[in-house]
Amino acid sequence: MKKPALHVEVNFTPFQIDEMQLKDRTVVIIDVLRSCTTISMALQNGAKEIIPAKNIETAMRISTGLDSAVTLRGGERNGKMIEGFNLGNSPHEYTEAAVNGKTIILLTTNGTKVMAGSRLARRAFLASFVNLSAVVLSLREIGDSFTIICSGKESRFSLEDAVCAGRIVNALGAHKDVQLALDDGATAASGLDKAFGKNIPKMLHQCEHGQYLASIGFERDLDLCGKIDSIPVVPSLAGGVFKKWKPLAITLAVPAPAVKSTASKSSSNKK
Ligand code: MLT
Repeated sequence: MKKPALHVEVNFTPFQIDEMQLKDRTVVIIDVLRSCTTISMALQNGAKEIIPAKNIETAMRISTGLDSAVTLRGGERNGKMIEGFNLGNSPHEYTEAAVNGKTIILLTTNGTKVMAGSRLARRAFLASFVNLSAVVLSLREIGDSFTIICSGKESRFSLEDAVCAGRIVNALGAHKDVQLALDDGATAASGLDKAFGKNIPKMLHQCEHGQYLASIGFERDLDLCGKIDSIPVVPSLAGGVFKKWKPLAITLAVPAPAVKSTASKSSSNKK
């Protein structure tokens, strides 16, 4: 029997959708540069959980209530570490030695605001290029329609997030057992992936925020954030914190389409 189509919506900035509209939806939040990449790295390196904060006051209030021996404050303002925090927002900082077993309160300019605003969602995943196939696998496993929210930059469109959204749409749609019904945003994102997704690292070096990060000394973050499928971990929101999503172990009838990767092929997202 033919499966019902999955309806896919893409919002290129968080301002296109109200938090109340997320209630009971499956949401995929994208912030390629860099918070979604950083959170995936932290969870892969053993962080217990990541709490997204929407502002500095919230971040400080949360941290005072937690054991400072196992709690870190991370994040950035204008791409640089916030004074008094333990870590910035470069994924390179979130090493196993730094984060294993720790609770991390993360505050960033755009990404964590969207994450903190997604509490009403039935399910919220974080996506970037480093965990792209793992996110696509998880979306196939749950089989729900979903809404993608690109974090953008200060309420403006960001090419890297839009191309990542398009890559998710195109990778999911490549599976013969998946029928997609796309809204105009998803159709546009699909086209942006086809137009700008041929060389992800190059696109990240050329996009607005990539050029800004390079100008303040974070050029090597662009290469890490561009390594497709290099971190097969799906951060999933539950009770206001992000932990690793543990998908049901299923064998997929149709193997995932080959996703061009500059990194060595990572294993599937089996826990
Ligand atoms: C954001 O939230 O806008 C980004 O994560 C900012 C950054 O890391 O440069």
